[in-house]
Amino acid sequence: MKAIRMHRTGGPSVLRLEEMPPPVPGRGELLIEVHAAGVNPVDVKIRQGKFTMFKLELPAVIGRDIAGVVRVAMGRKGGFKPGDAVFGMLDYDRGAYAEYTVASPREIAHRPPGVGELEAGSIGVAALTAWQGLFVHGRLKRGQRVLIHGAAGGVGHFAVQFARVRGATVVATASRRDLRWVKALGADQVIDFKNQRFEEETGDIDLVLDLVAGETQDRSWTVLKKRGGPIVSTLTEPSKAEARKHHARGVRMMVKVHQGQLDEIARLIAARKVRVTLGRVFPLAKARQAHEVLENGHLRGKIVLRVS
Ligand SMILES: NC(=O)c1ccc[n+]([C@@H]2O[C@H](COP(=O)([O-])OP(=O)(O)OC[C@H]3O[C@@H](n4cnc5c(N)ncnc54)[C@H](OP(=O)(O)O)[C@@H]3O)[C@@H](O)[C@H]2O)c1
Repeated sequence: MKAIRMHRTGGPSVLRLEEMPPPVPGRGELLIEVHAAGVNPVDVKIRQGKFTMFKLELPAVIGRDIAGVVRVAMGRKGGFKPGDAVFGMLDYDRGAYAEYTVASPREIAHRPPGVGELEAGSIGVAALTAWQGLFVHGRLKRGQRVLIHGAAGGVGHFAVQFARVRGATVVATASRRDLRWVKALGADQVIDFKNQRFEEETGDIDLVLDLVAGETQDRSWTVLKKRGGPIVSTLTEPSKAEARKHHARGVRMMVKVHQGQLDEIARLIAARKVRVTLGRVFPLAKARQAHEVLENGHLRGKIVLRVS
């Protein structure tokens, strides 16, 4: 099979198109023919050797988001059979930038007919992060007000729509050129993060979903309601001292695969209540360029590799 493989960590040039044998599924595993593989900032960090949550075995195929078709199902198949269209999020020890990969049934869900393959291949990491940040860690409820920092990115554009669908009021920060688009996704109020101070614009907030960190996170404590909700960050641990001072909670989250959430998200997309914005689509062979764009470009929504 063709795969994008890296033999060392480093810049985008370590991503090489190679021929290698397809992986062999073990008992209880599925062989997936990959049709689309989403590209996420975590892929860039793994490629750079900056992601230390797990030990990368080299040479490695990377990529966590996947959409494709089950070709082989071994042993207990977890409700999947050859020919099923599926999508999901792989653990770190395997990669989706390849024509075939192995998945465990818990990592994937059935792709409903109303969800395209490229869209499905862009859901995994970003949509699960948005979902878990808002509803699991953030415990966002109907009628509450959420502030989403980084609303125009892969995670943010899902978060705006999920919060809106669940009846929350959405305040969102983004670059000026993205404000109109973020509003069209469903944000009630949009704030230009370079030219406005969000603290002066938001009013009382129940939850801050922080996809940016740094001083943006530091400045976010003051917007929370008194004895109010948390700051949930995908990047850095919010200060415990500030949390105490503001009688609030700070959470640093790590996304986890969850089949039920994948199903629910796919249903929303199939029903056209949520849309996946594909910022750029690259062929598998151009994974290197996809990483360059993610690192340097200013894109709306997701980058995805079309694999076959
Ligand atoms: N912990 C986890 O499990 C987990 C899971 C998923 C993602 N993450 C992390 O979460 C972050 C967001 O992920 P993503 O996929 O959404 O990234 P992304 O697609 O690169 O989006 C980031 C967005 O943030 C915007 N931005 C940058 N600085 C900002 C600021 N000061 N205020 C408001 N917006 C700002 C960017 O706008 P411009 O393009 O205009 O600069 C861009 O639209 C990444 O760092 C990623 O590694 C962590």
